[in-house]
Amino acid sequence: MAPAYHCVTMLDPALAMGAEVVLYPLNADLTPDRYRLDEVYKQSVKPVRVMVATHFFGFIQDFSWLRQWCEEKAIVLVEDCAHVLFTERDQARGAGKFGKFVASSPYKFFPSPDGGFLYAPDARRLDGVGIQSAGFLSELRGIKRSAEISREPKIRKPDIDQIDKLLDSIISKIPEPGNDRVLQRPAQSTRYSADSVRTASLRSSRWVINHSSISGNVCRRQANYRCWLKALSDVPNCHVLYPQLPEHVVPYMLPLYVDFPNPHFYWLKQLGVPIWRWDEMAVSDCQVAHDHRLHLLHLPCHQSLTGDEMNWMIAAVTKVLSLFEEEARG
Ligand SMILES: Cc1ncc(COP(=O)(O)O)c(C=O)c1O
Repeated sequence: MAPAYHCVTMLDPALAMGAEVVLYPLNADLTPDRYRLDEVYKQSVKPVRVMVATHFFGFIQDFSWLRQWCEEKAIVLVEDCAHVLFTERDQARGAGKFGKFVASSPYKFFPSPDGGFLYAPDARRLDGVGIQSAGFLSELRGIKRSAEISREPKIRKPDIDQIDKLLDSIISKIPEPGNDRVLQRPAQSTRYSADSVRTASLRSSRWVINHSSISGNVCRRQANYRCWLKALSDVPNCHVLYPQLPEHVVPYMLPLYVDFPNPHFYWLKQLGVPIWRWDEMAVSDCQVAHDHRLHLLHLPCHQSLTGDEMNWMIAAVTKVLSLFEEEARG
């Protein structure tokens, strides 16, 4: 069982093992809908073995009730901490406390070319997990990639005073929706690499992760998130999904719900604002996932964003969302 709101890479490992994935419904805040879980569980033709529960965008949820629900049914709970800066610090604050296994993606928080954590509170559960070194050539490529990542600007932005001019030319055309592919059922993505399953993360990734400042990362991400919150408070046609940033949360991205994804999402993309959304998602009868698929944008709050880059993104998002489609086309 996996959350109805998902990116395809969340389902890939299970699909690659030949498992069938059942999507469970979520509440508006993306926590599992506990009142409908039993219904979904009972509908599953095959016995349910594993459930994935996600702390979306780094907002740590209390999954103690879910752990109990899984225990009663002998389901293995996998706690998805991909959006959590998973350190001892986060563990102390709740992340990684609920699952029999905990998976996290440190490359989302550190400038490392790859890397993944698999953690089990009961270490014996990991006894059968074997990984091999990536090999000499991959390690060399990893060093090159680490050097490139450290030099790359996080966003390629035009001047702030060019936004209006650029926007004028963008809004004069009808937005092209791109390849909006709806998956009728969970399907493995082309990004999945079976080879990487048993490959250890690169030494360069481990070096970068071990030598990065956790506290600097935490402070800057929180500051960028707060900066977005302040800037977006008066912006029309949108609302922030998590408008409070608790002290213990290290945000992965800022989830912004936009009322008119067409045209606003396309205009933002065409302006070059680095935003994401999970439109390549398998359909389910979860209304929240269905709605968020096109409406929920993920805005960056990465620690390496400069003040200039934040100001540029804020100016671009504010200008775009303040434009109504009719006005803009008219
Ligand atoms: C919530 C969530 N879980 C799991 C994954 C998969 O993580 P990885 O890329 O480390 O395999 C992702 C990837 O973006 C994700 O967003």
